Amino acid sequence: MSTSRRGFLRGIAGVGAGAAATGLSGCAPNIAPSPVLDAEKESDGRVRLDVKRYPDLSRDGGAVTLRVPGEQHLLVMHPGGNLYAVTSNICTHSGCPLGFEQGEAICPCHGSRFALDGTVTNPPARAPLRKFTSSYDADKGVLLIDFAAGDVGFPAVVEGKIFFPFAQFPELRTAGQFVQGVPEGYGKLLFVFALEGGTYSAVDGICTHQQCPVTFDEPVQGLWCPCHNSRFTKTGDVTRGPDESGGAITIGPLKKFTASSDASGVTVAIT
Ligand code: FES
Ligand code: FES
Repeated sequence: MSTSRRGFLRGIAGVGAGAAATGLSGCAPNIAPSPVLDAEKESDGRVRLDVKRYPDLSRDGGAVTLRVPGEQHLLVMHPGGNLYAVTSNICTHSGCPLGFEQGEAICPCHGSRFALDGTVTNPPARAPLRKFTSSYDADKGVLLIDFAAGDVGFPAVVEGKIFFPFAQFPELRTAGQFVQGVPEGYGKLLFVFALEGGTYSAVDGICTHQQCPVTFDEPVQGLWCPCHNSRFTKTGDVTRGPDESGGAITIGPLKKFTASSDASGVTVAIT
């Protein structure tokens, strides 16, 4: 069966480093991040999981952290029966990896919770997780995760532009909010930020150091690369370089796109 709906978010290597780096503490629920499973993408851009081989996933209520080379880490959840759901596995609050309990993804760091479709059910996180297309073949016991399909519900590139209707993305009406996802026709992570003064910023979400996906670090209000700790502003400028350079700025900014708005929504020109 297919999972569906609107999706969004990112990364992991350096698990929890965002929270640690920002010095956060809070009431951490008694839950651990889901166990790690490594897998490879096939030539069609999909990952096939023979679920019964993985007891952590095949049991009702199970979940794993899926590591796929070149991709962000995923949380693969099995609330029960033939239902599976796949989201990014990094908390949109400050980058901690998630656990799964009672049908929700839960952040051990400060207690954010997310529904199976990635929407926030408990703060402090405000932005949803990214949601990935998946389907489960109950006869074969195989779960198919499709990286090539783009983010479920995220708008596609049409004639060189991506349009985000306010009706579908109301967060873009409010300065400080953002959306993120992989638009079909672009194929990479994109962030769109609502800035002060009714302006917008759209930046590529792939770090210019070694192409890891970046994530939004809410306490810092900037983008953070979990691979080697580089940091960027909402407009893509580098504020800290990778660890190997001691944080010196030796890498370029994130790719920036023109973003504009009218009464109906935000348009990003993909050039
Ligand atoms: S990192 Fe703070 S709630 Fe997840
Ligand atoms: S890939 Fe981002 S800092 Fe190295």
